[in-house]
Amino acid sequence: MKPISQTVEHYPPSGIRKFFDIVSQMDDVVSLGVGEPDFVTPWRIREAAINSLERGRTSYTSNWGLLELRRVISRYLEGYSGLCYNPENSVLITVGVSEGMDLTMRTLLNPGDEVIITEPCYVSYKACVELAGGKAVTVEAKKERDFVVDPKDIEAAVTDKTKAVLVSYPSNPTGAVADKKTLREIVDIAVKHDLYIVSDEIYDRLVYDGEHVSVPTLPGAFERTVLLNGFSKAYAMTGWRIGYAAGPTEVIKNMMKIHQYTMLCAPINAQNAAIEAIVNGAKDREDMRREYGRRRRVIVKGFREAGLDCFMPGGAFYAFPNVESTGLTSEEFCEKLLFEHKVAAVPGTAFGACGEGNIRCSYATSIEDIVTAIDRIKAFVAGLK
Ligand SMILES: Cc1ncc(COP(=O)(O)O)c(C=O)c1O
Repeated sequence: MKPISQTVEHYPPSGIRKFFDIVSQMDDVVSLGVGEPDFVTPWRIREAAINSLERGRTSYTSNWGLLELRRVISRYLEGYSGLCYNPENSVLITVGVSEGMDLTMRTLLNPGDEVIITEPCYVSYKACVELAGGKAVTVEAKKERDFVVDPKDIEAAVTDKTKAVLVSYPSNPTGAVADKKTLREIVDIAVKHDLYIVSDEIYDRLVYDGEHVSVPTLPGAFERTVLLNGFSKAYAMTGWRIGYAAGPTEVIKNMMKIHQYTMLCAPINAQNAAIEAIVNGAKDREDMRREYGRRRRVIVKGFREAGLDCFMPGGAFYAFPNVESTGLTSEEFCEKLLFEHKVAAVPGTAFGACGEGNIRCSYATSIEDIVTAIDRIKAFVAGLK
């Protein structure tokens, strides 16, 4: 057989999967590894999908997504952050933020165009840029700044090939939340160098101290920002595969062309469920956020008691404790923790080389499991001394 695409053949698989494959073979493991809510999708949202099925809604939708869903998203964004997107041509329903990110990069980039991304970051960013023919230029979000990127480092990475800067707060894997001043400085850099901004705000509703700042609300940002968001995290809807992209009409219309040929549309019953989520799901969403907030304090306190330095994450549902004091690399730490104490966590290096020294622990798991995991981690760290 002739060889498959060289680009794909040599592309490394996601570092997260390795651990999950091992964990799935083991008994009695407490997993802090998975980045998805442990809640089942709230009943009213499931019921909306059941009703949609019962009414025989089993067809394709418009390639853009159901107009009703685009309208409620548009209204929601206006009420939430004052942003006005035309639901007819500036909001596209995608198969999760994952598809939205892929479409954005394929739409914005010519071969060799550079996108500045901040590491440690979600595993798909670099891949989406590179598989779209672009070059991912990474800038480190440093521990000393509680993992919020220094805008000066972004500016220093700009070249005449830079096309876009990718921003993602609250952050996976660190839980960092950027303040308004930092985000404004990033926007100013984008304006100065005429760059697009891609803002993945999937954790915007999971912020524990203060308010989320949506990037396109900042001066100069709206006309150059592709806003990506979805239902997976805030409404515990990972398996439904629903997200959306909102942004400049020309960009969204061109993203739609790729989506039309490659995806056709997001699943209709998931779209109907998403309408219910956005219209009536605020209380369920808030209940879950409050519960994550409670768990966040328990897990961070636990790491500190175990002797691991851990900053208090402001959002998402991840803690990112530092394990350097143990003398182990983050990969060694996770391996030993898993095999000797049956707790699964993800080495920081799965999110970029500068994640070394830290591990990602999801607290989207029950308090009981968090307490058990912390007890085991304490025993593990004490045994290393
Ligand atoms: C930062 C971030 N963006 C995007 C995604 C993917 O989201 P979706 O389920 O909407 O494709 C994830 C999932 O973990 C994530 O953490």
